[in-house]
Amino acid sequence: MKKIVIMASGNGSNFENIVKKLGNQVDIELFSENKNAYVIKRAEKLKVKTHIIDFKSYYRDEYDEKLYNLLKKQTPELIVLAGYMKLLSPKIVDKFKIINIHPSLLPAFPGVNSIKKAYNYGVKITGVTVHWVDNGIDTGKIIEQKSLKIDKGISLEKLEEKIHEIEHEIYPCVLKKLLGL
Ligand code: GAR
Repeated sequence: MKKIVIMASGNGSNFENIVKKLGNQVDIELFSENKNAYVIKRAEKLKVKTHIIDFKSYYRDEYDEKLYNLLKKQTPELIVLAGYMKLLSPKIVDKFKIINIHPSLLPAFPGVNSIKKAYNYGVKITGVTVHWVDNGIDTGKIIEQKSLKIDKGISLEKLEEKIHEIEHEIYPCVLKKLLGL
């Protein structure tokens, strides 16, 4: 079975969705740099092997080296960022195949809080992007995008819900294609 490592820093709804949809076709492990992240609880429930390197306990160089060594040991076919909110070191980016999901139509609204940024900007269309990870912030080659019309008067909470629904639909599909499942 092919192996992927999902990297996540927080809630983990994308992680759980991928495990539930593809867990019987691909070997999945979780990495988090945040020992208090809710995604770790999800992994426990789903019996997914979890690796944690506590970001706050190390100097940046040390953390990067530990993470590089851990990933090298796991030798994943693909690294899947799902709400991983730290920059990866160039050494890691150069060594592995890595994809990311982002909650806007890149190149619009890169970085953090992108759903809110799009909402506050007043754009009429937003969406979700899956892209290869390079050394920039959300600048890698686009693999897939799905757009969403922002209905007049919609609340930010409702928009966030709709964006997550799209994420949960497209990320497993992209993975299936890339992994040949
Ligand atoms: C997702 O919306 C993902 O697109 C976003 O974090 C959220 C994680 O949700 N990622 C980024 O903003 C990366 N720049 P989840 O923890 O419930 O899967």
